[in-house]
Amino acid sequence: MKKILIINASARSLDSQSRKLTDYFIGYLKSIMINKTIIYRDLGNSEIPHISQQWIEADIKSDKERTSEEQDVLMLSDQYIKELHDADIIILATPMYNWSIPSTLKAYIDQIMRLNKIFTINTERGKQRYQGLLKEKNLVLILSRGSSGYEVGERNEYMNFQNTYLKFVFGIMGIQNLHEISINGTSKDPAELKIEMKKAEIQTQNLVDKLFYEKQ
Ligand SMILES: Cc1cc2nc3c(=O)[nH]c(=O)nc-3n(C[C@H](O)[C@H](O)[C@H](O)COP(=O)(O)O)c2cc1C
Repeated sequence: MKKILIINASARSLDSQSRKLTDYFIGYLKSIMINKTIIYRDLGNSEIPHISQQWIEADIKSDKERTSEEQDVLMLSDQYIKELHDADIIILATPMYNWSIPSTLKAYIDQIMRLNKIFTINTERGKQRYQGLLKEKNLVLILSRGSSGYEVGERNEYMNFQNTYLKFVFGIMGIQNLHEISINGTSKDPAELKIEMKKAEIQTQNLVDKLFYEKQ
Protein backbone atom coordinates (compact mmCIF):
# COMPACT_ATOMS: atom_id res chain seq x y z
CA MET A 1 0.00 0.00 0.00
CA LYS A 2 1.36 3.43 -0.96
CA LYS A 3 1.80 5.96 1.83
CA ILE A 4 1.29 9.58 0.92
CA LEU A 5 2.33 12.52 3.05
CA ILE A 6 0.66 15.82 2.23
CA ILE A 7 2.29 19.00 3.53
CA ASN A 8 0.46 22.30 3.07
CA ALA A 9 2.26 25.57 3.77
CA SER A 10 -0.20 28.24 2.64
CA ALA A 11 -1.30 30.55 5.44
CA ARG A 12 -4.67 30.77 3.69
CA SER A 13 -7.33 28.23 4.43
CA LEU A 14 -9.79 29.98 2.08
CA ASP A 15 -9.03 30.58 -1.61
CA SER A 16 -5.59 29.00 -1.43
CA GLN A 17 -4.70 27.83 -4.93
CA SER A 18 -2.01 25.44 -3.70
CA ARG A 19 -4.50 23.83 -1.29
CA LYS A 20 -7.09 23.63 -4.09
CA LEU A 21 -4.64 21.80 -6.32
CA THR A 22 -3.68 19.45 -3.47
CA ASP A 23 -7.38 18.64 -3.01
CA TYR A 24 -7.66 18.04 -6.75
CA PHE A 25 -4.64 15.70 -6.58
CA ILE A 26 -6.21 13.66 -3.79
CA GLY A 27 -9.68 13.73 -5.40
CA TYR A 28 -8.30 12.39 -8.68
CA LEU A 29 -6.22 9.80 -6.85
CA LYS A 30 -9.25 8.60 -4.88
CA SER A 31 -11.22 8.23 -8.11
CA ILE A 32 -8.68 5.76 -9.52
CA MET A 33 -7.08 4.03 -6.58
CA ILE A 34 -8.20 2.53 -3.30
CA ASN A 35 -5.10 1.14 -1.62
CA LYS A 36 -3.36 4.07 0.01
CA THR A 37 -2.77 5.78 3.34
CA ILE A 38 -2.78 9.57 3.48
CA ILE A 39 -1.17 11.58 6.27
CA TYR A 40 -1.77 15.35 6.41
CA ARG A 41 0.74 17.76 7.88
CA ASP A 42 -0.48 21.34 7.91
CA LEU A 43 2.22 23.95 8.35
CA GLY A 44 0.39 27.08 7.21
CA ASN A 45 -2.20 26.98 9.97
CA SER A 46 -0.05 25.62 12.80
CA GLU A 47 2.64 26.86 15.13
CA ILE A 48 5.87 25.29 13.94
CA PRO A 49 8.42 25.86 16.72
CA HIS A 50 11.68 27.52 15.80
CA ILE A 51 14.77 25.65 16.83
CA SER A 52 16.35 26.94 20.08
CA GLN A 53 19.53 26.67 22.19
CA GLN A 54 18.01 23.66 23.97
CA TRP A 55 16.97 22.06 20.66
CA ILE A 56 20.49 22.41 19.19
CA GLU A 57 22.13 20.99 22.33
CA ALA A 58 19.71 18.06 22.36
CA ASP A 59 20.19 17.39 18.65
CA ILE A 60 24.00 17.14 18.96
CA LYS A 61 23.72 14.35 21.54
CA SER A 62 23.15 10.72 20.63
CA ASP A 63 19.69 9.21 21.23
CA LYS A 64 21.00 7.41 24.35
CA GLU A 65 22.61 10.51 25.92
CA ARG A 66 19.51 12.70 25.91
CA THR A 67 17.63 13.52 29.08
CA SER A 68 13.87 13.04 29.02
CA GLU A 69 13.49 16.84 28.80
CA GLU A 70 15.72 16.89 25.72
CA GLN A 71 13.75 14.04 24.19
CA ASP A 72 10.63 16.13 24.65
CA VAL A 73 12.24 19.10 22.90
CA LEU A 74 12.92 16.91 19.85
CA MET A 75 9.63 15.02 19.94
CA LEU A 76 7.92 17.03 17.22
CA SER A 77 11.02 16.94 15.03
CA ASP A 78 11.19 13.15 15.45
CA GLN A 79 7.55 12.90 14.44
CA TYR A 80 8.04 15.03 11.31
CA ILE A 81 11.08 12.93 10.35
CA LYS A 82 9.22 9.65 10.87
CA GLU A 83 6.39 10.86 8.63
CA LEU A 84 8.92 11.61 5.88
CA HIS A 85 10.67 8.24 6.18
CA ASP A 86 7.34 6.38 6.21
CA ALA A 87 6.03 8.08 3.06
CA ASP A 88 6.45 6.74 -0.47
CA ILE A 89 5.18 9.96 -1.99
CA ILE A 90 5.52 13.41 -0.41
CA ILE A 91 3.34 16.19 -1.73
CA LEU A 92 4.56 19.60 -0.65
CA ALA A 93 2.24 22.47 -1.56
CA THR A 94 3.58 25.93 -0.92
CA PRO A 95 3.12 29.53 -2.01
CA MET A 96 5.90 31.88 -2.93
CA TYR A 97 6.16 34.49 -0.15
CA ASN A 98 8.63 37.33 -0.67
CA TRP A 99 10.30 35.43 -3.52
CA SER A 100 10.98 32.49 -1.23
CA ILE A 101 9.01 30.11 0.99
CA PRO A 102 6.70 30.83 3.97
CA SER A 103 8.57 31.09 7.27
CA THR A 104 6.51 28.18 8.65
CA LEU A 105 7.95 25.93 5.96
CA LYS A 106 11.47 27.17 6.72
CA ALA A 107 10.90 26.45 10.44
CA TYR A 108 9.74 22.93 9.45
CA ILE A 109 12.87 22.40 7.31
CA ASP A 110 15.05 23.48 10.26
CA GLN A 111 13.20 20.92 12.40
CA ILE A 112 13.77 18.03 9.97
CA MET A 113 17.28 18.76 8.65
CA ARG A 114 19.09 16.59 11.19
CA LEU A 115 22.42 14.81 10.83
CA ASN A 116 22.12 11.00 10.80
CA LYS A 117 18.32 11.25 10.70
CA ILE A 118 17.79 12.85 7.29
CA PHE A 119 21.32 13.13 5.91
CA THR A 120 24.87 12.09 6.71
CA ILE A 121 28.19 13.77 5.96
CA ASN A 122 30.95 11.96 4.16
CA THR A 123 34.39 13.33 5.09
CA GLU A 124 36.31 11.23 2.54
CA ARG A 125 38.05 13.34 -0.09
CA GLY A 126 36.54 13.22 -3.53
CA LYS A 127 33.29 11.72 -2.27
CA GLN A 128 29.88 13.37 -2.33
CA ARG A 129 29.83 15.37 0.96
CA TYR A 130 26.13 15.07 1.83
CA GLN A 131 24.29 11.77 1.61
CA GLY A 132 20.55 11.92 1.96
CA LEU A 133 18.65 9.27 3.86
CA LEU A 134 15.25 9.83 2.23
CA LYS A 135 15.67 7.20 -0.45
CA GLU A 136 13.38 5.98 -3.23
CA LYS A 137 10.69 8.52 -2.65
CA ASN A 138 8.85 10.81 -5.00
CA LEU A 139 8.47 14.45 -4.06
CA VAL A 140 5.75 16.48 -5.74
CA LEU A 141 6.12 20.25 -5.38
CA ILE A 142 2.88 22.18 -5.87
CA LEU A 143 3.95 25.81 -6.21
CA SER A 144 1.65 28.84 -6.22
CA ARG A 145 2.80 32.36 -7.09
CA GLY A 146 1.00 35.67 -7.43
CA SER A 147 3.10 36.70 -10.40
CA SER A 148 4.79 34.71 -13.17
CA GLY A 149 7.98 34.47 -15.24
CA TYR A 150 10.00 32.70 -12.52
CA GLU A 151 11.05 29.62 -14.47
CA VAL A 152 14.50 29.02 -15.99
CA GLY A 153 15.13 31.47 -18.84
CA GLU A 154 12.17 33.67 -17.91
CA ARG A 155 12.32 37.33 -16.91
CA ASN A 156 11.94 36.81 -13.15
CA GLU A 157 14.16 33.75 -12.85
CA TYR A 158 16.70 35.68 -10.74
CA MET A 159 14.01 36.45 -8.12
CA ASN A 160 13.05 32.83 -7.56
CA PHE A 161 14.28 31.42 -4.25
CA GLN A 162 11.23 29.17 -3.90
CA ASN A 163 11.59 25.97 -5.95
CA THR A 164 15.34 26.55 -6.40
CA TYR A 165 15.81 26.32 -2.60
CA LEU A 166 13.34 23.45 -2.16
CA LYS A 167 14.95 21.40 -4.92
CA PHE A 168 18.37 21.93 -3.37
CA VAL A 169 17.46 21.17 0.24
CA PHE A 170 15.32 18.10 -0.55
CA GLY A 171 18.13 16.95 -2.85
CA ILE A 172 20.47 17.00 0.17
CA MET A 173 17.88 14.87 1.98
CA GLY A 174 18.22 12.27 -0.78
CA ILE A 175 15.16 12.99 -2.91
CA GLN A 176 15.98 12.17 -6.50
CA ASN A 177 12.53 11.85 -8.02
CA LEU A 178 11.15 15.34 -7.99
CA HIS A 179 8.08 16.58 -9.87
CA GLU A 180 6.87 20.16 -10.06
CA ILE A 181 3.46 21.61 -10.80
CA SER A 182 3.27 25.41 -10.77
CA ILE A 183 0.28 27.73 -10.61
CA ASN A 184 1.57 31.08 -11.77
CA GLY A 185 -0.15 34.48 -11.78
CA THR A 186 -2.72 33.77 -9.06
CA SER A 187 -3.11 37.54 -8.43
CA LYS A 188 -4.08 38.18 -12.05
CA ASP A 189 -7.40 38.21 -13.84
CA PRO A 190 -9.76 35.39 -12.64
CA ALA A 191 -10.27 34.18 -16.23
CA GLU A 192 -6.50 33.80 -16.68
CA LEU A 193 -6.23 32.03 -13.34
CA LYS A 194 -8.94 29.59 -14.43
CA ILE A 195 -6.87 28.68 -17.51
CA GLU A 196 -3.71 28.35 -15.39
CA MET A 197 -5.53 26.11 -12.90
CA LYS A 198 -6.92 23.90 -15.69
CA LYS A 199 -3.38 23.47 -17.01
CA ALA A 200 -2.18 22.51 -13.53
CA GLU A 201 -5.05 20.01 -13.14
CA ILE A 202 -4.12 18.27 -16.41
CA GLN A 203 -0.49 18.09 -15.27
CA THR A 204 -1.73 16.64 -11.97
CA GLN A 205 -3.75 13.91 -13.71
CA ASN A 206 -0.76 12.96 -15.89
CA LEU A 207 1.52 12.83 -12.85
CA VAL A 208 -0.89 10.73 -10.78
CA ASP A 209 -1.28 8.30 -13.70
CA LYS A 210 2.50 8.08 -13.99
CA LEU A 211 3.19 7.66 -10.27
CA PHE A 212 0.41 5.23 -9.46
CA TYR A 213 -0.30 3.30 -12.66
CA GLU A 214 2.83 2.97 -14.73
CA LYS A 215 4.86 1.34 -11.94
CA GLN A 216 2.22 -1.22 -10.94
C1 LIG B 1 3.06 37.60 2.44
C2 LIG B 1 2.95 37.33 0.96
C3 LIG B 1 4.07 37.46 0.17
C4 LIG B 1 3.99 37.18 -1.21
N1 LIG B 1 5.09 37.30 -1.98
C5 LIG B 1 5.03 37.00 -3.30
C6 LIG B 1 6.19 37.07 -4.14
O1 LIG B 1 7.28 37.36 -3.71
N2 LIG B 1 6.04 36.77 -5.44
C7 LIG B 1 4.84 36.41 -6.00
O2 LIG B 1 4.77 36.14 -7.19
N3 LIG B 1 3.73 36.32 -5.22
C8 LIG B 1 3.80 36.60 -3.91
N4 LIG B 1 2.68 36.50 -3.12
C9 LIG B 1 1.44 35.99 -3.72
C10 LIG B 1 1.25 34.51 -3.44
O3 LIG B 1 2.36 33.76 -3.90
C11 LIG B 1 -0.02 34.02 -4.13
O4 LIG B 1 -1.12 34.71 -3.59
C12 LIG B 1 -0.23 32.52 -4.00
O5 LIG B 1 -1.37 32.17 -4.73
C13 LIG B 1 -0.40 32.14 -2.54
O6 LIG B 1 -0.61 30.75 -2.43
P1 LIG B 1 -2.05 30.20 -2.01
O7 LIG B 1 -3.00 30.65 -3.11
O8 LIG B 1 -1.92 28.72 -1.98
O9 LIG B 1 -2.41 30.78 -0.69
C14 LIG B 1 2.75 36.78 -1.76
C15 LIG B 1 1.62 36.67 -0.93
C16 LIG B 1 1.72 36.93 0.41
C17 LIG B 1 0.50 36.79 1.29
